[in-house]
Amino acid sequence: MASADTKKALFICLGNICRSPIAEGVFIKTVKDSGQADKWEIDSAALGSWHVGNHPDYRALDVMKSHHVQYSNRARQIKENDFHHYDFIFGMDEENMRELKRRSPKNSKAQLLMLGDFDPEGDRIIRDPYYDDDSHGFEKCYQQSTRCCKVFLEKHS
Ligand code: 4NP
Repeated sequence: MASADTKKALFICLGNICRSPIAEGVFIKTVKDSGQADKWEIDSAALGSWHVGNHPDYRALDVMKSHHVQYSNRARQIKENDFHHYDFIFGMDEENMRELKRRSPKNSKAQLLMLGDFDPEGDRIIRDPYYDDDSHGFEKCYQQSTRCCKVFLEKHS
């Protein structure tokens, strides 16, 4: 249930079918597993419009399933109001961050953060695995997201 002290996090990538759904699913699970589900509103979205309405890429779904991360959302595109609604908007790489900054309205409330900056192993860039011909990049995205979401949540609990 949303209340005045609900914290809001939005995960962004280019297409919202590979990296940001994994990061969103992982953060939802991390928050639930730490008993804080009622304190967070969590979503993900795309910078581009190509995949709006689609399920995640099957490789993202497979990786989430293999780690018991439930996921049923479909892709949507980021909109101006997201910058006023969310407290934290996460990009996956430097290109995402540049584009988020470019689209951010002057009076935006959201802190724009690169998810990889929370990685205790210092692997800062969550690389786009969409054009890969296997699923290793998706598993890597899951592992990075898991480490980063844990550290971020510890800092904001
Ligand atoms: P994502 O991956 O940004 O991690 O969802 C991509 C998915 C689709 C495309 C690019 C990146 N695309 O160009 O269609």
